[in-house]
Amino acid sequence: MLRVRHLEISDLITAVDLADGRRLPVRRDEVVRQLRDSGDEPAARIVAGLPADRDGTLDPDAVDRLLISVHTELQRLSEELRIGNRLVHLLGPLFTAIRADGGHPGPYRLVDIGCGLGYLVRWLAATGALGPDVELIGVDLNAALVGEADRLARAEGLDCRFVHGNAFELPEAATVYVSTGVLHHFGAAALAGFFRTQAASPALAFCHFDIAATSLAPIGARVFHRARMRHPLGRHDGVVSARRAHDDETLLRAAAVPGMRALLYEPRGLSNPFCTTLRPILGVRPQLEPPLRQALGRASRRLVGPEHLGPVRGEATR
Ligand SMILES: C[S@@+](CC[C@H](N)C(=O)[O-])C[C@H]1O[C@@H](n2cnc3c(N)ncnc32)[C@H](O)[C@@H]1O
Repeated sequence: MLRVRHLEISDLITAVDLADGRRLPVRRDEVVRQLRDSGDEPAARIVAGLPADRDGTLDPDAVDRLLISVHTELQRLSEELRIGNRLVHLLGPLFTAIRADGGHPGPYRLVDIGCGLGYLVRWLAATGALGPDVELIGVDLNAALVGEADRLARAEGLDCRFVHGNAFELPEAATVYVSTGVLHHFGAAALAGFFRTQAASPALAFCHFDIAATSLAPIGARVFHRARMRHPLGRHDGVVSARRAHDDETLLRAAAVPGMRALLYEPRGLSNPFCTTLRPILGVRPQLEPPLRQALGRASRRLVGPEHLGPVRGEATR
């Protein structure tokens, strides 16, 4: 029987040399084959319809235009889900805790990893929600998205910047690393490496939002992406993202890296699956946990550590 793996088209139609960031050619028939092998014939058909040259290499400009248009639709979802406000609900108290911890005078820096079109960074710059002492930077592996994020920020006259780079190399130092909708792109093993890299840096915390792996997530994603997204690629990847979302256990175990206290906000059992669409996994330097909880007030009851999982039940799997 065919093993069904969840692959996102957007991960397959672009390729980058991780050593130097150079764009690599992608063969259309190779992507179609991968999708067929994964048991996803509808996705294979979407890719088979993308423009390619006579050698069968996907047209890089057409791919860029497509990804920018899909990410523009994604930005509308972020606006609707009020991602900026959700992030500030936690990051506001986190920066309060960092400012209160006398050892770390500002200015501070927030780096959004896998920023796409940089909606979150541009929203934070436009609202000034984190305060004037927080510099705002977005990083993404896709140079076309970074270029468009930069163009939008200039057009909007915003004080923020965007950098082409890999989440596992961290081209920009940060006080706090954040992301939205990125963690499910990494398998469980890579996820631990992602958090370890940040813990090994001078950063004081990370706060990564991704789709909550509830039983309602795949159906919710199907309804929402069908209603809000026009291109079949965006609809497809939106639903697959929800299927790939990491569960509580995987997130908490992966984030429990040396030097950081792992904390999950709104875990299963403390959240309403109808309301919790995205929620964050945090890592904070241990001395910051008490002031963070104090600054969060009642909301800190929704923040749990790995002890919430109970005794170890073996390694987390996906
Ligand atoms: C689903 S999109 C989310 C974009 C944006 N954060 C948002 O919420 O609209 C995932 C993003 O992660 C980026 N990405 C994937 N792997 C990456 C890596 N290793 N380093 C940096 N960015 C990465 C992709 O290029 C893409 O822009």
